[in-house]
Amino acid sequence: MSLHLLVFILSVFTYNVSCITIDLEFAPAVRNVSLKFVGVTLDSGLIKNKWQTFNLTSQKVLTLAKGISPSYLRVGGTDCDYVLFNMTQDQKTSQQSANFPLTVADWDNLNHFVMSAGWDLIFDFNVFLRKNGQWDPTNAIELLEYTVKQGYKPSGYELGNEPNLFPSANAVSEKQLAKDFASFKDIVSSSGVPPFLTIGPDIAGMTGSYLENFLDAGGSDVVDVVTVHQYYTNGHTATLKDFTDKKLLDKFIKEVDSFVKTCNQKAPHKQCWLGETSSCYDGGARNISDRYVAGFFWLDKLGLSALHGLQAVLRQSFYGGSYSLIDTNLNPNPDYWLTLLYKRLVGSPVFNVTQTTDPNIRVYAHCTNISSSIGYKPGSITVYIMNIGSETASVDIPFSSSKTQERYILSPGDDDGLTSQFVKLNGVVLTLPNDYELPPLRPLYSQGTLQLEAYNMGFVVIPDAMKPECMQT
Ligand SMILES: *[C@@H]1O[C@H](CO)[C@@H](O)[C@H](O)[C@H]1NC(C)=O
Ligand SMILES: *[C@@H]1O[C@H](CO)[C@@H](O)[C@H](O)[C@H]1NC(C)=O
Ligand SMILES: *[C@@H]1O[C@H](CO)[C@@H](O)[C@H](O)[C@H]1NC(C)=O
Ligand SMILES: *[C@@H]1O[C@H](CO)[C@@H](O)[C@H](O)[C@H]1NC(C)=O
Ligand SMILES: *[C@@H]1O[C@H](CO)[C@@H](O)[C@H](O)[C@H]1NC(C)=O
Ligand SMILES: *[C@@H]1O[C@H](CO)[C@@H](O)[C@H](O)[C@H]1NC(C)=O
Repeated sequence: MSLHLLVFILSVFTYNVSCITIDLEFAPAVRNVSLKFVGVTLDSGLIKNKWQTFNLTSQKVLTLAKGISPSYLRVGGTDCDYVLFNMTQDQKTSQQSANFPLTVADWDNLNHFVMSAGWDLIFDFNVFLRKNGQWDPTNAIELLEYTVKQGYKPSGYELGNEPNLFPSANAVSEKQLAKDFASFKDIVSSSGVPPFLTIGPDIAGMTGSYLENFLDAGGSDVVDVVTVHQYYTNGHTATLKDFTDKKLLDKFIKEVDSFVKTCNQKAPHKQCWLGETSSCYDGGARNISDRYVAGFFWLDKLGLSALHGLQAVLRQSFYGGSYSLIDTNLNPNPDYWLTLLYKRLVGSPVFNVTQTTDPNIRVYAHCTNISSSIGYKPGSITVYIMNIGSETASVDIPFSSSKTQERYILSPGDDDGLTSQFVKLNGVVLTLPNDYELPPLRPLYSQGTLQLEAYNMGFVVIPDAMKPECMQT
C-alpha cells in the first residue's frame, strides 16, 4: 500500500468518526434578542473594598468597556444590602457596623464611567434598611435627590439581593417584599429621575416558591423586568472537568425553560432576565472560571438563553472574583474576548438549530449583527459552535458549502491548555496593543467542511447566506 493511500485511509477514518451536519437552511427563526442582550455586573462588595485594583478612570478599562458597549452594568449583590449613601463622608473609614458607605465620589465615578463607556447603570438599593416591618426609603431618597441634581441617568433600579436567601434575622416575606417594591417604585418615580426600569426580585436560582409568591403577591405588576440568578456549581468544589460536563451544561436547559414559563405566565409582557449569572457561585473557581475553559459555560448559556427567550443575561462579573472578564491587572481574560466577538458578530433573530449526531458539539445560530463595526451585509448568518469533546469534529453546513465562511475560531492561548489565561483567535493570541484600542479581530476565509479541533469554540459567519429572516435592516 502506498503511503498516500494509507494517509488517505487514515484521514478518512479519523475524520469520519464524527461528521456533523447543521441544517441551517430550514432552521426556523424563533426569537428576537435586543442590542443589550449581553450585559455585565460589578459586585457591591467592590464599594466596600474601596474598588480593590479596579479603576473607573483608567483608560484601559474604558477602552475595554467601550468595546462591549452598549451594555447594562448592574451594581449589586449580597453587599448591596449593607450600602449606606453618605453625602458628607469623603473617604472610607473603618466601620462600626455591617454597613459601609457609598460616597459621593463613588457615585460620581460610577456614573461618569457608564456615560463615557456608553453603558446603562442598574443600581441595587439596600432593602435591609427597615422601619416597622417596612422598607425605609430615607437613605435612598438622599441618593436619588443627588442623582437628579447631578443629572445622572441610571436606567434601572433594584431593591435587595437574593431575598430567598436572607438570613432569618433579616427575612422579608414575599408579600412584604412585593409591598416594598411598590413603595420603592413610587419613591423613585417621585424623585424626578429620568424614566427607569424597576428590576427584581433577583432570586438565587431560577425557580422556586419565593419567586412565584412574590409575583403572585403583586410583584408582577410592579416590576418591568423579572430577574433571577444562576450558577452551575459551587466555586469552592468545582473541578476543571465540570467545565466541559454535558450534564451540567444541560442542567441549564430545564432551569431556563422553567423560569421563562413562570415569568411569562405570572408576569405577562414583562421582560425575563438572568440578572446575575456565572459559572460558579461564591466568587468563582480560582484559576478555572477566569481561564479559557470558562468560555464553554458562557457561550452555551448565551446560546440557550437567547433560544429559550430571555431578554438579557448579565455576566458576573466585569471585574472582581475568579469569574471576571478582566483581571486584577485590568487585562482581559479569555471570556472578555469571547464576549466582544459575540457582541460584534451575533444579532437577531435567533434560529432553532438542532444537531443530535454528536453530543460534544453544541451549536447555535442567529442572524449576523449587521450594525457592528465589521459591516456585514443583510442576509448574513452567524453560527456559534463549541467542541467539548477530545476529538476533532467535522462540521458541514450544507447550504453554505459553496459560500465563503468567515471563521473566528478560539483555542487555548498557551501550554496551560484549558486553564490558559489567554486565548488564540485563529491561532494568534489576543492582547491589547495599548490602552486606547482593541486589536483587529481577523477571520479566516474558508469554504466547505469545518474541522473543529478538540476543545475549540468559535463563530462562523456566512455573509452570502441571503437568509430571508436576516434581510431586514
Ligand atoms: C423579530 O422582529 C421582527 C421585526 O420587528 C419581526 O418581523 C419578527 O416577526 C420577529 N421575529 C420573531 C421570531 O419574533
Ligand atoms: C486610575 O487611572 C487613572 C488614569 O489612568 C490614573 O491617573 C490613576 O492614578 C489611577 N488610579 C489608581 C488608584 O490606580
Ligand atoms: C456619614 O459620614 C459621617 C462622617 O464619617 C458620619 O458622621 C455620619 O454619621 C455618616 N452618616 C451616615 C448616614 O452614615
Ligand atoms: C493560580 O495561578 C497562579 C499563577 O497563574 C498561582 O500563582 C496561584 O497559586 C494559583 N492559585 C490556585 C488556588 O491554584
Ligand atoms: C427547537 O426545535 C426542536 C426540534 O424541532 C423542538 O423540540 C424545540 O422545542 C425547539 N426549541 C425552541 C426553543 O423553539
Ligand atoms: C451589534 O453591534 C452594535 C454596534 O456595535 C451594538 O450596538 C449591538 O449591541 C450589537 N448587537 C448585539 C445583539 O449584541
